[in-house]
Amino acid sequence: MKFTYFGQACFQVEINNKKILFDPFITPNPLAKHINIDEIKADYIFLSHGHGDHIADLIAIAKRTKATCVGAAEVATWFGKNGIEKTHPLNHGGPVKFDFGNVRAVNAIHSSSFPDGSYAGNPFGFVFTSTEGNFYFAGDTALTMDMQLIPRWAKLNFAVLPIGGNYTMDAADAVIAADFINCDTIVGVHYNTFELIKIDTEKAIADFKAAGKNLLLPAIGEMINPLTP
Ligand code: NI
Ligand code: MN
Repeated sequence: MKFTYFGQACFQVEINNKKILFDPFITPNPLAKHINIDEIKADYIFLSHGHGDHIADLIAIAKRTKATCVGAAEVATWFGKNGIEKTHPLNHGGPVKFDFGNVRAVNAIHSSSFPDGSYAGNPFGFVFTSTEGNFYFAGDTALTMDMQLIPRWAKLNFAVLPIGGNYTMDAADAVIAADFINCDTIVGVHYNTFELIKIDTEKAIADFKAAGKNLLLPAIGEMINPLTP
């Protein structure tokens, strides 16, 4: 499974030949100046919640790629109002079938509004299951006991967890989350983009290692295969 990191909480995964982009925030990110959003391909764009550091480039990429945009019911309505043709609304609950696999929207302890302050439904994490592997993207969230449900639904190959603290879990809590979700390969996101989420990455890697887990921190623009780290 190909995984490409684009900074903050934005990444692309390729599953069964479908390119799936998450939380596109690239052009306002000073760390991602070398990424050209016009070169990013997407069959789907999943949005965890409406905050600016997740949605900034969504409309532009969706309009160019004609990707199907997936998010909370309120988010999908907003997509439609902003001229996006293909949308898929969902909410917390049972798995939803897509052509690449199944997706379950799960709880995230956070908030969700659009940059103009309007309501954007509940914030999500997503659990993806497919013939090519399973992963969990936590979105923006604090550590929550709800994460313990995830191993009942999927044996995860990897998980994408926020580690920057202040607005979300920090790395120490992400180690506990990795334990809750029974997953040893974690891709850390949502760190170092802003002053308030700057972290000691060497310490974060060491903390995961001490817990017998592997924290991957791909460079912005780097493609990795988290199934064979
Ligand atoms: Ni947020
Ligand atoms: Mn965020």
